Amino acid sequence: MIVECPPASLSERKATCRAGSNIAFIKYWGVAGSGEDLNIPLNNSISMTLADAHTTTTVAWDGCVCLPEDTVVIDGVQLEGGPAERIVAHLDRLRALAGVPYKARVVSNNNFPMASGIASSASGFAALTVAGAAALGLRLNATRLSAVARQASGSASRSLFGGFVEWERGWGRGESESSSLLDTRSVAHQMYDENHWALRDVIAIVSAGAKRVSSSSGHRLAATSPLNAARTQCVREWLKTVRRAIAERDFSLLGPVLELDALAMHGVMMTSTPSLLYWQPGTLQVLQAVRSWREDEGVPVYFTIDAGPNVHLICEADSASEVERRVGALPAVERVLTSGPGTGPQFLDGHLF
Ligand code: PMV
Repeated sequence: MIVECPPASLSERKATCRAGSNIAFIKYWGVAGSGEDLNIPLNNSISMTLADAHTTTTVAWDGCVCLPEDTVVIDGVQLEGGPAERIVAHLDRLRALAGVPYKARVVSNNNFPMASGIASSASGFAALTVAGAAALGLRLNATRLSAVARQASGSASRSLFGGFVEWERGWGRGESESSSLLDTRSVAHQMYDENHWALRDVIAIVSAGAKRVSSSSGHRLAATSPLNAARTQCVREWLKTVRRAIAERDFSLLGPVLELDALAMHGVMMTSTPSLLYWQPGTLQVLQAVRSWREDEGVPVYFTIDAGPNVHLICEADSASEVERRVGALPAVERVLTSGPGTGPQFLDGHLF
């Protein structure tokens, strides 16, 4: 039930933010044992923030104490139970930072299917963090906002920045946890802005349905896979390759390693206990097609996959229309969404309510 508050009191503490999702070239998969609640990752990750896959969120804090509870509407649906709890927990972090008891009204819209391997939690929690903090008058820079967003969703820490972004693990192994919400040891930073390299993420949607196991539960399973230690060991070298490939805009260096880490991460997922299998028949159809276009016909395109069945085809801008045409013609592909690199979060004047 939504209790309407007097608009004047809400508008005083209202802000709207749009944040881009991001696609990781080196993935975040698995949280450090001691830092489970803080989302301290097992390894650094590197991503590109997306211009055209984004979440817009309006947050209004109820200073008149009319709302009995937080209300959250995403893509027109009011959340109840578990899905709402994760957002309420994040609102609690913002309340704690500001030292206020206010309940909030949150309305959020994605321009892409939620919870299907297009990182809606990244853009969603980045937008919620920025809008929520601003509406409370908290003056936090992007680094601090990255630390706060990380605690809701690890990948959201990267969406606080535009362009090409690295999230540092930050915490040394065995180092004690911090109870401070603003501890900035594990945060993202921008490597290069959105104009550095015209890469494209051509997203092949093979299933727009919600996934059965959320990535936040999956991170807790990574350590049960016998392949996990091997992947985190290899990632140290792969990070160096990806940093160099981005610095030099060298696509032939970037492509093989981003594909390799996606497969390594899915190997960890599939071999954890319980086993996570996010792929569907359509996923494999796209992977096989990409391999054959590249190996048999020389189309420069590589794939990566997040915690869902959809496939992200990474290519340079001059190959994007050819890749879109080919992938759109595959029977399993329901929809194609293409994005280049985008900016960090932006405030919007037009609120969603
Ligand atoms: O931020 P989370 O908990 O939704 O985790 C995202 C994990 C992957 O998307 C699979 C990989 C990544 O680095 O984005």
